[in-house]
Amino acid sequence: MFPTHRPRRLRNTDLLRQMVRETTLTPKDLIYPLFAVPGNSVAQEVRSMPGVYQLSVDKIVDEAKAVYDLGIPSIILFGIPDTKDNEATGAWHDCGIVQKAASAVKAAVPDLVVIADTCLCEYTSHGHCGYLEVGDLSGRVLNDPTLELLKKTAISQAQAGADIIAPSGMMDGFVMTIREALDGAGFENTPILSYAAKYASAYYGPFRDAAESTPQFGDRRTYQMDPGNSREALKEVELDIAEGADMVMVKPALSYMDIIWRIKQATNVPVAAYNVSGEYAMVKAAALNDWIDEERVVLETLTSFKRAGADLILTYHAKDAAHWLQR
Ligand code: PBG
Ligand code: ZN
Repeated sequence: MFPTHRPRRLRNTDLLRQMVRETTLTPKDLIYPLFAVPGNSVAQEVRSMPGVYQLSVDKIVDEAKAVYDLGIPSIILFGIPDTKDNEATGAWHDCGIVQKAASAVKAAVPDLVVIADTCLCEYTSHGHCGYLEVGDLSGRVLNDPTLELLKKTAISQAQAGADIIAPSGMMDGFVMTIREALDGAGFENTPILSYAAKYASAYYGPFRDAAESTPQFGDRRTYQMDPGNSREALKEVELDIAEGADMVMVKPALSYMDIIWRIKQATNVPVAAYNVSGEYAMVKAAALNDWIDEERVVLETLTSFKRAGADLILTYHAKDAAHWLQR
């Protein structure tokens, strides 16, 4: 009898396919990024990210409620401050924009898990993720002085109510430094989600429109990773876990599925994947032209991140995906 094996038998009906499906996406897998700006009733759409807005704190609170009602457990906050300076004051000030947004969200939706992105690039006048002496145009940010500013940032974010601290600047030793700082300030139960394997990627372009964080000179290649490397990602992850990271992230996601997979195999902490702005923008542009079926493309992509090993997915599609999944 030919063929002996007929894998198509298990694909015959929708229910049968559901019964044998290995990976199922749910809203609980998703984290929704939000951009906080000063002001009131501000909702400014980002040019290169249709459907994504810079929001004032009152609007952030509305969004947080909507996100929670959709069954999405968590948001990650980025901030665009009034003023930028060489010390990234807006990042660590108690009245900083992320601090304000975090405390307002926690007051309105206490159960929603608020993640604070812990970096300096939105707050430095030059747009780099770390400290540079005034007049230094090299773009080679100074590692250890940056750690001092990150400590202050993490503590003030935790004090404002952030449930998880997510350092994203790819500085050496940032996990250990922040862990010690949080412990010293009484936040020993606040987890760290480290952007452990973050690549120097062109896919971040639209985010820099959203966060107004494009470097004024140079680029981020002296701190973010080279796209050609994968063993180095394992090294970064190993170091961060040894330093106390509770969860690790791979970023971007789509071009780095192999990295997600390798890290998942090599570790036993939850792995997050960041479906970044450029990945979102490409899907949106094609969908707005009616060139692809947005719903099917998005759900297929997010399911694939999970299949590759992601336990958590940061995505600008989170609200749409949750809507579609609820239907
Ligand atoms: C920097 C940071 C970046 C993103 C979030 N935080 C990258 C960068 O500007 O180098 C990118 C997120 C996205 O593209 O969606 N700390
Ligand atoms: Zn940064």
